[in-house]
Amino acid sequence: MKKKKLVVFSGAGMSQESGLKTFRDMGGVWEQYEVTEVASPEAWDRHPARVLQFYNERRKQLWEARPNAGHLGIAALEQHFEVQVITQNVDDLHERAGSSQVLHLHGELRKARSTADPRLVYTLEHWELKLGDRCEKGSQLRPHIVWFGEAVPAMAEAISLTRQADIFVVIGTSLAVYPAASLLDEVRSGVPVFVVDPGDLPLSGKQITFIRQKAGEGIKMLTEKLLPLK
Ligand code: APR
Repeated sequence: MKKKKLVVFSGAGMSQESGLKTFRDMGGVWEQYEVTEVASPEAWDRHPARVLQFYNERRKQLWEARPNAGHLGIAALEQHFEVQVITQNVDDLHERAGSSQVLHLHGELRKARSTADPRLVYTLEHWELKLGDRCEKGSQLRPHIVWFGEAVPAMAEAISLTRQADIFVVIGTSLAVYPAASLLDEVRSGVPVFVVDPGDLPLSGKQITFIRQKAGEGIKMLTEKLLPLK
């Protein structure tokens, strides 16, 4: 029997229990760093070494991080549903937990790309990317991350996938950043939406079920609610 399509839209909260900081919670990344200083094309033009260091610090943490029960629970749902993860996260914890279909809207921390030809993308074997690390055409490598003010190339595909969802799950995102957050508007009417987040979200609607838990615990409760919908 054909499996129903389950789309999981995740954000930084997904990886919080793996020890990676979120952005807008207390003590979040944007309390420590000025976004425009480390995550924008202007910052890259002005002081590339500072930008590289910001991502090197986060990549170093990722090297030591492990998927948490939330990531593993989402991967386990593939037994019952056709699961498509659409994530704003740049970590690879969904993949390492076993999720087989993961679309990254904001890039991938483990990858670097050529500043001369954006089609040249490399997987980094080491956590450090330095000035002088060059692509095969001799140009400086940059983090393969979508910076503020840059286009989100995967958005069209994300919209198409969301429109096909039979069930939509939002987990670990404050829905503060566009265009990513607008995915919710693409969910067909009548499709059940589940939100897993310990915090409050500016969401309302009859089709929304809130699970006010962290990802690890919330995924267990979500699975119980999803299985009868198979
Ligand atoms: N489990 C689930 N959700 C959690 C947990 C947890 N353990 N801890 C925190 N959260 C929730 C918070 O309540 C909040 O709603 O995760 C969300 C984190 O929100 P943000 O820090 O804004 O992260 P995110 O929504 O992913 O940010 C979107 O902004 O800075 C850019 O590109 C960056 O992709 C990022 C985008």
